[in-house]
Amino acid sequence: MRDPLAYRRRLLARILHIAGAGSVALGAARCGARASLPGDDHSLGTSASGSSGLGGAGSSGNVGGSGGNGGGISFTISATSASSTTGVTVGVGGAAPDGGPTEGIACIPPTANGCPSAAGAVDPINNALANPCFMVVSVVAGPTIENGACCYDVIAQPFPCYVGRTFFIDEGVVKAELRRGPSFCAGGAPDAAGLPEATRRALAEAWARDGLFEHASVASFSRFSMQLLALGAPADLIRDTHAGAMDEVRHAELCLGLASGYFGYPVEPAALPIPAPIAIVPDLPAIAAEVAMEGCIGETVATVQALDALAAATDPAVRAVLEATVEDETRHAELAWRFLAWAVDAGGDATRAAVTEAFASFRPPAPSPEQLEGVDLALYAAHGRQVAVEARAIAERTLAEIVRPGVCALLSRRRLDRCAA
Ligand SMILES: [Fe+2]
Ligand SMILES: [Fe+2]
Repeated sequence: MRDPLAYRRRLLARILHIAGAGSVALGAARCGARASLPGDDHSLGTSASGSSGLGGAGSSGNVGGSGGNGGGISFTISATSASSTTGVTVGVGGAAPDGGPTEGIACIPPTANGCPSAAGAVDPINNALANPCFMVVSVVAGPTIENGACCYDVIAQPFPCYVGRTFFIDEGVVKAELRRGPSFCAGGAPDAAGLPEATRRALAEAWARDGLFEHASVASFSRFSMQLLALGAPADLIRDTHAGAMDEVRHAELCLGLASGYFGYPVEPAALPIPAPIAIVPDLPAIAAEVAMEGCIGETVATVQALDALAAATDPAVRAVLEATVEDETRHAELAWRFLAWAVDAGGDATRAAVTEAFASFRPPAPSPEQLEGVDLALYAAHGRQVAVEARAIAERTLAEIVRPGVCALLSRRRLDRCAA
């Protein structure tokens, strides 16, 4: 039986080791110009050796958008309030426990023309918002000037964060439709006998949805392998990327195998709807930004969500799938961080700036619809599923506890040239 906390600690230590090679005495103060950042108060400042304060169920967190050049953007969710001491903090207080809309205060720097009007402030605030699990949906009052910043009363809406390495192109997220067919059915059959109809149906749809995202992840890795070749990347990254694509084929089979068991008939992906030729351009800053989003965020969050789902699951076939997922997604997350470490070393300031911007501006795709009316949530968890609010909470915690320190280590990184004479 895995210990989720111990596993998360090891994952953080591994990512810090990968991201922070060459840096010493890593601490939160290295994340930007400020001595401390929102979210630093739950002892996540860590050393590159991996000793960590991970384990506090902190209610605050952020994904650092600030790099070695200082400045940057951060986001705070706190129980009661948000602070805005630097003029670049966007804060939303009092996250609703049911995942619904919540009120808060958002502060952004003034533009050359002063503060945007309330009606014109939604986009600038969301563009400044580094947390991928929240989005401001309306501004109800403001602006008022506080510490030189433009502040607004806002309504913010939490969103479930997506799982895994999503395949993005210019048009957005790409994944196939589901159809009947046996070509992607692998793994053991879940025990679907006796499940209430609504629960069985919800499980079928949830595992099918994951299977389609896993199927799309194959394309993400395939594109990445071509990009690595075009960039002249080292062999270990190319090899492990191809291995990652094979893992994702297996994940798609396993998830769709479970879905088939719950549906009672076999399902598989239809054609992946790629709308246009995909250009392979050796643009290191752009590729690094993609990997930050798809790999470092997507796969790290996916690992921890699978870990927590495994802890609650009891069905043997489901547990086997989640065990494999945790193992494989851990390697995929590490591969993304390894690539970014190489890219930051090889790509100079332009790549560092692109990575910083990617973490700061990350947005999740629209949440998948979730119909859980009449579903037995205990059985839902026993068969490996998390409701959206749980998944989002895990994602937020992972972003604060693991991704953010990884970003800090990466952007504090000094080049470690082991092959130098
Ligand atoms: Fe996967
Ligand atoms: Fe993956």
